[in-house]
Amino acid sequence: MDKLISSKQNIQHVPESYILPPERRPGKVVIPSSKCIPVIDLRGNTDRQELVQRIMKACQDFGFFELTNHGIPEDLMHDVLKVAEEFIQLPVEDKANFYSDDPAKKCRLYSSIDHDQEKVHFWRDSLRLPCHPLEDFVEEWPNNPARFREVIGDYAVRVRELSLLLLDLIREGLGLESGYFEGDLSKTHMLNFNFYPPCPDPSLTLGLPKHSDPNLITVLNQGAIPGLQVLKDREWIAVEPIPNAFVVNIGHTLQVISNGMLRSGDHRAVTNAFVARTTIASFIHPSSEYQIQPANELINGCGIPLYRPFPYLEFIRNYIKDTRDGNPALKRYELSQA
Ligand code: OGA
Ligand code: NI
Repeated sequence: MDKLISSKQNIQHVPESYILPPERRPGKVVIPSSKCIPVIDLRGNTDRQELVQRIMKACQDFGFFELTNHGIPEDLMHDVLKVAEEFIQLPVEDKANFYSDDPAKKCRLYSSIDHDQEKVHFWRDSLRLPCHPLEDFVEEWPNNPARFREVIGDYAVRVRELSLLLLDLIREGLGLESGYFEGDLSKTHMLNFNFYPPCPDPSLTLGLPKHSDPNLITVLNQGAIPGLQVLKDREWIAVEPIPNAFVVNIGHTLQVISNGMLRSGDHRAVTNAFVARTTIASFIHPSSEYQIQPANELINGCGIPLYRPFPYLEFIRNYIKDTRDGNPALKRYELSQA
């Protein structure tokens, strides 16, 4: 529990164990306006074909887009962040039940990424909750603040529906059969609440290091405070918050299924010196046993598979280690094209 960065009082200096070696520090970011990530209006696009093409292009070029007009009410977008902040501000003893250093525990509060295994810690605490089906998990969630389960439960159901809708649009863009992403492939749904307290010197730390998400699709409510950056053509681009928009990105699993047509974008979170930043990431994952591989439809005929099949659970284990060591997580599954 004393590992939580948000529980430390009056931090005047960045503790040694959070200071990154100079080559891994965030540095200066220049945002070339021409490279801002695409903004897609979900309901304003009356032509479905055009919407599909816009999403596909964003997922090919960036692996990222911002989504407006998505149908999740503005009140709820704010409320979930507020309830999350109320949770992290509770006295330590009220959160202690949820704290765990065991990465295998599904429902848990923890700090950084893998606190006991990593050389340098990141300036983030996280609450991770399994969400689907809701009735199987909601009893394990915090019930303090009193409205936590109700507000977050409502949000979890809606954000899962939205994620499945986006996956269906991507399915259409890839030319895969109807229902391709349903069932075991999109069975697991997790919410990750990220808490980034103000940091006395943001130039020395990161909230999250460079990574791509391992899952199929991530839908992030990043609130109004900037901090997310996306790597494009070797430059870091800050993703400016758009009020009530989501940031959507595709993960390694979708890159493999699309046989490399879509790419998962590298990203990271920087810290700031003035305000606490809270974000909520919604992850759609396959079930652990699912065999991930390029879709047959994209290989039969003239295509050549770029990746060998692998079970999702094995991938996740390697992903954690590879990301910690700074190695690209899909490298070990690539097939040589010689
Ligand atoms: C994540 C992530 C970014 C952010 O949770 O995987 O990349 O800005 N979060 O919190
Ligand atoms: Ni991420």
